[in-house]
Amino acid sequence: MPLPVTRPRRLRTTQGLRSLVAETRLAPEQLVLPVFVREGAAEPRPISSMPGVVQHTRDSLLKAAHEAAELGLGGVMLFGVPESKDAVGSGGTDPAGILNLAITDVVAEVGNALTVMSDLCLDEFTDHGHCGVLTPDGRVDNDRTLEVYAAMALAQAAAGVDVVGPSGMMDGQVAAIRAALDDAGHTDVAILAYSAKYASSFFGPFREAVDSSLQGDRRTYQQDPANAREGVREALLDVAEGADLVMVKPALGYLDVVRRVRDAVDVPVAAYNVSGEYSMVEAAAAHGWIDREQAILEVLTSIRRAGADVVLTYWAAEAARLVTR
Ligand code: PBG
Repeated sequence: MPLPVTRPRRLRTTQGLRSLVAETRLAPEQLVLPVFVREGAAEPRPISSMPGVVQHTRDSLLKAAHEAAELGLGGVMLFGVPESKDAVGSGGTDPAGILNLAITDVVAEVGNALTVMSDLCLDEFTDHGHCGVLTPDGRVDNDRTLEVYAAMALAQAAAGVDVVGPSGMMDGQVAAIRAALDDAGHTDVAILAYSAKYASSFFGPFREAVDSSLQGDRRTYQQDPANAREGVREALLDVAEGADLVMVKPALGYLDVVRRVRDAVDVPVAAYNVSGEYSMVEAAAAHGWIDREQAILEVLTSIRRAGADVVLTYWAAEAARLVTR
């Protein structure tokens, strides 16, 4: 008698079997939608390098938040685009700054149904476009920036945010923010730390999305794309400082870092499917070079398979519809 042949293909025969044995699943509640809100905007403004994504008005933001809640998304991550910027990013700490107003709006409208997160960084608010305040000779001043981040965290907490997302890659930012929040009694505000954030060309379209004024680059504070072990080190430091979730960013070029961080920490791990990753797929799909919906699901599944518990993606709403249809 010949030996029975092991046939892995048997489990690929039907969609039912393939679904039954799928090792990785995508669910709406694992997806977080990043959204931009522009101060003083009368109409939502398209972002040309991110087809389908807009800078919202305060009104259209609420519509997007309602939709996110109805779809059962894991949350929204809010980014503010202020009308005026200055050297210290005053718009970020001002309770009447666009981001803090947007938090208040969204929490009031859908706060019971949707987790509200906010970017905690200065680059959208500074005229020089860096993520922190500068020394007289133009370097990013780590420790003075921490004081501003602490004030920004308090403003966002006062506005009612559930989760703050420090994305500036300053050393000690999680500890400084946790201490400030706790001292003020905001012990329930969670920190989603951008732990391993790389100086990436894939943030390119985001610069348009927030009207960034950055000249130069962020290589003195964001990580070198060459380093994976260092990403694990950053994540472990953030956990020790009190991070509730840690994040790897970008996602696609850094799936090895996602996996290594997932294996190294015991808190939930998020990954940010960033603007350039979105735009690449949209551009190729617009040319008819790839199947758009299939590519979206493949990208998001790959990020989950690498170990991300949570994925931030501009496709969150669309992907939620695709996986539940
Ligand atoms: C900084 C921040 C950036 C992104 C999220 N938060 C830009 C940067 O660090 O240069 C990029 C997100 C994306 O590209 O989708 N506040």
